[in-house]
Amino acid sequence: MNRVIKDTGSKYPIIQAPMGWIARSQLASAVCEAGGMGIIETSSGEIDNCKKEIQIMSELTDKPFGVNLPLLFLKDDSMVKFCVEAGVRFVTTSAGDPTKYIKVLKDAGITVYHAVPSLEGSIKAANAGVDGLVVEGTEGGGFKSPVEVGLLVLIQSIKQNLDLPIIAAGGIVDGAGMAAVFAAGAEGIQMGTRFVSSA
Ligand SMILES: Cc1cc2nc3c(=O)[nH]c(=O)nc-3n(C[C@H](O)[C@H](O)[C@H](O)COP(=O)(O)O)c2cc1C
Repeated sequence: MNRVIKDTGSKYPIIQAPMGWIARSQLASAVCEAGGMGIIETSSGEIDNCKKEIQIMSELTDKPFGVNLPLLFLKDDSMVKFCVEAGVRFVTTSAGDPTKYIKVLKDAGITVYHAVPSLEGSIKAANAGVDGLVVEGTEGGGFKSPVEVGLLVLIQSIKQNLDLPIIAAGGIVDGAGMAAVFAAGAEGIQMGTRFVSSA
């Protein structure tokens, strides 16, 4: 079975990217209902609002959803603790070193994928014990690494070095883009910009 489907529990290996203020319950639950994996953002830093958004998800959908923990932007461990207590099953970490919270998340039985922009970052994440990678090419929107590596090159170089499941992100907007990254070795896709521009 496709490892991303197994890890997310969603019908399709299509992940809606976490995006500050945008990736809240309205968008995320609609994506979950359509068979993808909706992710709630926490990068806005609006901790109380984000906690409410996570709680509301179970009223809006009975499908699995996830939460993003952007490590550099977390002031303390309160969001991490909240995810554990709220029974969140899938987390993506990004913008930082996953080592910091991997143990507490894994001990709670949460599946953790870490977002990486480079082969070096992916090796560090693998050593930290993550379950999978969100591989973000320079084509992507949002907060980006200054090291610019194209998505197809990045996926293939990581595939040659690691056997972790890969969710590809950056510039994917349709089935052709999805097929291209699957051909390169990805098992799932994450789209941000495309979901910003959807009703
Ligand atoms: C407006 C915006 C905000 C974003 N905020 C986050 C974030 O909070 N955390 C994160 O891990 N990625 C964030 N990203 C990056 C996305 O997760 C994703 O990797 C990227 O959007 C993929 O490229 P695409 O926009 O071409 O689909 C953001 C992207 C956009 C466009």
